[in-house]
Amino acid sequence: MIATLFNAKHDRLPKILEHASGDKRFKILEAHMKKHQFRQDALIEVLHKAQELFGYLEDDLLLFIACKLKLPASRVYGVATFYHFFTLKPNGRHTCVVCLGTACYVKGAAKILAAVEERTKVKAGETTPDNELSLLTARCIGACGIAPAVVYDGTVTPRQTPETALDHLKGWIGHGD
Ligand code: FES
Repeated sequence: MIATLFNAKHDRLPKILEHASGDKRFKILEAHMKKHQFRQDALIEVLHKAQELFGYLEDDLLLFIACKLKLPASRVYGVATFYHFFTLKPNGRHTCVVCLGTACYVKGAAKILAAVEERTKVKAGETTPDNELSLLTARCIGACGIAPAVVYDGTVTPRQTPETALDHLKGWIGHGD
């Protein structure tokens, strides 16, 4: 994995940075790093914030952090894998991240999560046995104005309900039932 990150770094970084410029979550993360003056010893703090925003830490996110903090990707990856409270990209082919931050929570995020858990028969943080879907939660993804928000395969989707969420997941889960 570290090797993959190293090899990919030069090719992928411009793409990641371009994608990041259009994703509010990266902007919030960058503001958080700025608050810490992009200090390398704030890495754990930054990884916490990243996980809160994205629900899990995927390669591109780790590379983005490494780039911004001017740290080797291997170090960022090493820290992310060392501590049990960090979650790397889960195994599911698809990901569904339900935001449980305050704005989303008061607008019914818990009901969305409960409906998805009931339908998929997995709890937040787990992946369905067929590896089709990983269900995760985040704490404010920076989209409070469109709460409650759910991120399906990286796409932030506004004003969700249990019905719209289940509808969205229909093609990903429960084949044959
Ligand atoms: S609380 Fe969900 S986007 Fe802010």
